[in-house]
Amino acid sequence: MPLARNVLNLMTLFSAPKGTFDVLPPASSTMLAVREALTAPLRTAGYGYIETPIFEDTALFARGVGESTDVVSKEMYTFTDKGGRSLTLRPELTAGLMRAFIEHKLYAGPLPIKLYTVGSNFRYERPQKGRYRHFTQIDVEALGSDDPALDAEIIALALAAYDNLGLKNFTTQLTSLGDQNCRPAYRDKLQAFLAELELDADTRRRAEINPLRVLDDKRPEVAAQLVDAPVMSAHLCDDCKAHYDAVRQYLTELGLSWQEAPKLVRGLDYYTRTTFEFVHNGLGAQASIGGGGRYDGLSAQLGGPDLSGIGWAIGVDRTLLALEAEDLTPGEGGNVAVFIVPMGQAKSAAVQLTARLRASGIATDLAYGDRGLKGAMKAANRSGARYAIVIGDRDIADGVAQVKNLETGEQDAAPLDALVTTLKEKLA
Ligand code: HAM
Repeated sequence: MPLARNVLNLMTLFSAPKGTFDVLPPASSTMLAVREALTAPLRTAGYGYIETPIFEDTALFARGVGESTDVVSKEMYTFTDKGGRSLTLRPELTAGLMRAFIEHKLYAGPLPIKLYTVGSNFRYERPQKGRYRHFTQIDVEALGSDDPALDAEIIALALAAYDNLGLKNFTTQLTSLGDQNCRPAYRDKLQAFLAELELDADTRRRAEINPLRVLDDKRPEVAAQLVDAPVMSAHLCDDCKAHYDAVRQYLTELGLSWQEAPKLVRGLDYYTRTTFEFVHNGLGAQASIGGGGRYDGLSAQLGGPDLSGIGWAIGVDRTLLALEAEDLTPGEGGNVAVFIVPMGQAKSAAVQLTARLRASGIATDLAYGDRGLKGAMKAANRSGARYAIVIGDRDIADGVAQVKNLETGEQDAAPLDALVTTLKEKLA
């Protein structure tokens, strides 16, 4: 047996790491269409694109997201680099964006600073449908203002993004988590309530460290005991209550609807005041397609000025599942509009024609591989293109190309020098 084959036989085939997946064509075109639809409303509202590194100082997440959260205590991909630094693959985007805001003193300009980004995140979670170890978020943050109209804008932008995709079967869950003035007294009250319940040792420990998180416990024996638990939204101080009322008034004036969710608990510790989640009805356990809220203490906590912020992240992967659940397929179809099939000695002309059509903005592909008319037409049909251009020696001599409508099968000759115009009319 030749050596190369021998070696190949001994090698294991690699697959994508557990909890990750590849996005292949044509599904990838849906993913691109989703990213585009979700980010378009941000650009029309003055949000600028930002990119930050995929890894950051581990301490940034410990301090920003919170040591007691599952994300920081159990799910981070942390490693020591060759220089001895502890680095972590980002589990979310807000902390890194806030770090950049402080590091580059973006707060020195007019506020709020409005930013958005799209990127990979990493959490060592138990993988299941909709929950991955590598996933993509679209993240938006408005930094440096606590104006409740900005809260309404942020929520409205997410709803406009979903609307762009045609998504319908989801609700906006909304509440206020108060601030450093009213939360401590509420926390004491909740802890006193939880102390009276019959809870296992783990949950009791959680009640000590982060009692709000217990409210999120879905186990029936725990949930049943939480029915009468005190909720933050009923214990807001006057300032937080006025802020929350104003947010809701702006939302009403924008014609938007939501559900009050007094027991909404987010998995990250930085939230204050307005907090929300978008929950889809067709996704089972991993139903949150996006979420966010205010984090008025985060800048100061990370060593920056005492400025507020609000934002959200939409999970691209879960949004794709939500689209599937609603039978929506944005961006599906051909990647190209036109497919060129060269015959005889027309290859050079076809190569040049492909370049000319692409330069004029018509998405075009070419039958590579000289596989004959039958094979080339098969490729044309598979490409999803609406028109095939068949071009042979006789056509070139006559100054024409055959334009075939791949849906109806109709075919007619079109002059080569007017082909761009002809195709643009047909494709319009
Ligand atoms: P989050 O709720 O942790 O918030 O994540 C936002 C969204 O990312 C979720 O609603 C979900 O769609 C998606 N997501 C989270 N974890 C996974 C996973 N393991 N697999 C697939 N999708 C996932 C944040 O990350 C905050 N930084 C949002 C924010 C921005 N708050 C203020 N500004």
